[in-house]
This record gives sequence, structure tokens and C-alpha cells, in this order.
Amino acid sequence: MTKVGILLGSLRKASFSRKLAENVAHLFPEGYETEFVEIGNLPLYNQDFDDHNQVPADYTTFRNTVKGLDAVLFVTPEYNRSIPAVLKNAIDVGSRPYGQSIWDGKPAAIISQSPGNLSGFGANHHLRQSLVVFCKKK
Ligand SMILES: Cc1cc2nc3c(=O)[nH]c(=O)nc-3n(C[C@H](O)[C@H](O)[C@H](O)COP(=O)(O)O)c2cc1C
Repeated sequence: MTKVGILLGSLRKASFSRKLAENVAHLFPEGYETEFVEIGNLPLYNQDFDDHNQVPADYTTFRNTVKGLDAVLFVTPEYNRSIPAVLKNAIDVGSRPYGQSIWDGKPAAIISQSPGNLSGFGANHHLRQSLVVFCKKK
């Protein structure tokens, strides 16, 4: 079974991103299973936590969850021509400690959305910029 984690860039209850993701989750072919990965509980990334052995339990849970996935799907709105801070924070938390990124070699896909004319282009573009670094082949 191939496990795909879905990370949402929106925390609001009536989120369009969530509705999109919930529909897409059912479209995967046989042999895939999807799960939503919680990111709204992650404290803002602070390198001191890692450097001084004070890693929040939510960081550890998140990092272990993503390590156990075969791939990730990001579904995000556009905020100010970029991605929401909650999603960037999750990316940052997962990318450290240096040399222990949970993203390395992880296949990833992006769905971005906004009711605006560009439909989340800016979010897609910025997220791809991060992905080329952290999803590098092992
Ligand atoms: C802080 C903030 C900034 C936004 N910036 C943009 C933007 O730059 N471009 C755009 O098309 N929509 C922008 N929007 C609109 C959101 O992309 C839109 O409301 C989206 O559907 C929210 O996603 P959600 O329904 O999953 O919460 C912004 C919304 C917020 C709250």
C-alpha cells in the first residue's frame, strides 16, 4: 500500500482547500491510501528547540508521521502571492535539524487554489521553489 499524506494550507473550517482535498483523496487508484497530516498544532519553528534538546512533542509526532509516508500532496490557498504561514512553518519544521530533513527524496505534488483570477498561481510557484530544494533525490 502506498501511503500519501495530505497537508492543507488552510485551517478554517469551511476551507475550499479542504473540500478539494477531501474529493481528491477518493480519486487515488487502488493500492494507495491517504491521510490528512495535522500541521495547525506546530509551534512556530525555532532552531533553539532542536539545538538545545527541547523539541516540542508535536514536532516529533509530525516528523515521524511524514517519515512514514511514501509521498505528500500539498493542497493550499494563495496568501499574498505566496503560501500561508502555517504551511511554510510545517515545511521548515520538517526540514530540520540540518541533514535530517524528512522531505529528502519524498515525491510531492501540489494543488493550489484561490477564487481569484490567477487561481493560486503565486502559492504554487512559491511552494515549488521550496520543493526543489527539500525533495531532492537521495
Ligand atoms: C491573508 C490572506 C491573503 C490572501 N491573498 C491572496 C492572494 O494573494 N491571491 C489570491 O488569489 N487570493 C488571496 N487570498 C484569498 C484566498 O486564497 C482564498 O480566500 C482561498 O480560497 C482561501 O482558502 P481556503 O478556502 O482553503 O481557506 C488571501 C486570503 C487571505 C486570508
